[in-house]
Amino acid sequence: MDSIHVHGGICLQGKVKVQGSKNAALPILAATLLTRGTNVIHNCPKIADVYLMLHLLDSLGCRILWDADGVKIDTGHANYCEMPVEAIRGMRSSLCLLGALLGRTGKVSMEYPGGCVIGKRPIDLHLEAFRKLGAQINERDGRIDGNAGKGLKGTLLSMPRSSVGATENAILAAVSAKGHTCIRGAAREPEVAALCDYLCRCGAKIDGIGTGELHIWGGRTLRGVEYRIPADRIVAGTYLLACMGTGGSIFLEDAPISQMDSVIRLAKGLGARCQGSREGLYLQAPERLLGDRKISTQVYPGFPTDLQSVVLAVFTKAPGCCVVEENIFEDRFRILDALALMGARIKRLTANTVAVYGPVRLKGHEVAACELRGGAALVTAGLMADGETVVKGCEYIERGYENICRDFRELGARIYSVSSEKGKRDA
Ligand code: EPZ
Repeated sequence: MDSIHVHGGICLQGKVKVQGSKNAALPILAATLLTRGTNVIHNCPKIADVYLMLHLLDSLGCRILWDADGVKIDTGHANYCEMPVEAIRGMRSSLCLLGALLGRTGKVSMEYPGGCVIGKRPIDLHLEAFRKLGAQINERDGRIDGNAGKGLKGTLLSMPRSSVGATENAILAAVSAKGHTCIRGAAREPEVAALCDYLCRCGAKIDGIGTGELHIWGGRTLRGVEYRIPADRIVAGTYLLACMGTGGSIFLEDAPISQMDSVIRLAKGLGARCQGSREGLYLQAPERLLGDRKISTQVYPGFPTDLQSVVLAVFTKAPGCCVVEENIFEDRFRILDALALMGARIKRLTANTVAVYGPVRLKGHEVAACELRGGAALVTAGLMADGETVVKGCEYIERGYENICRDFRELGARIYSVSSEKGKRDA
């Protein structure tokens, strides 16, 4: 899929099922390496990052089989510890294979991951946690070589700052370490809790799940299980905010409402009516948005950085001056120029704060995505804009959204993707 074509200006109406969570699935797929036997992971999103993670598990010796029910993973024959080069080049979240491999084989070797367009994304907290658990970690010539020596040992890990990935890697290593590990300052994102929940189903003993202090008693045998990936709060938030931008009313089936407080609070602050039920979340967008809003991205349960770009697009429709403050990544305002091409009036106030002046009626334009959530934001802007918008660089969007065109079409949008090599459109 090379480009997405959107004929905007249409209110979204209808119902769409929210896919499984990318950021829950990836660490759980890596964690299967710590189990003996077969796992069946249901509701696993069919996205590029999951396909890459499964390719990496396959290259480590696992047997992978997709069927109607989900993806079956047999780790019985996994006996390599060298991370394939494409692991890190293709996807940073393959980082969580580090903790799983260290736990399973006692050794790991991989290329040092680079940064990405939204920030430097160092891994010092990951490596520090492994060292504290007793691993020997050497960084030389752009590579990382880890060795658990006589075995990892439980300890106190005080995380100097909140990191989702470092917390997940520490958990994956700690469940293999002998004795008790306390992770203080653990990230509280729902995806960390889902990983802990999966590991407990496999036989791990973890207390404090969902809090900033986790207690893990490691060294227990973990067996493969059936597990259902929870719905994706960021995908649900994307579609909720897109409806705020276009107007209309939608039902998000399976939306993980309890994980979406900050996003629902923003929608209500913009004038939306929201109604939650066991089946999902109903949203009625207002005719006109309330103005002069502000978001400040924070670690969970604060406003998620992964929805910041989508909010930028939606704020163009709000009257007055709205402010967006990004506190998690250094360089996550990558779509400002593209939104300006579409007529948005956005001004940088500081390195991590921008002001959005509105209301502005966006105009369709050809724009290019350079990362996942910025790409979803440009599609949202296209849905709001008059005329046609073409969003290039959609391979980024495929990393996290199963089929953003299919989902928005189910909500009444006029949108399709065109793949250059096949030269055809998907609807
Ligand atoms: C996870 O990335 C998510 N990815 C990101 O989602 C999400 O934006 C991020 O958490 C924050 O919620 C997955 O779960 C696969 P961090 P992660 O470690 O773990 C700094 C998406 O679009 N840091 O919590 O890499 C780091 O630079 C993606 O789905 C260190 O300084 O994020 C950042 O400024 C994008 N040293 C901050 O911490 C470290 O060792 C938070 O990063 C690690 C991180």
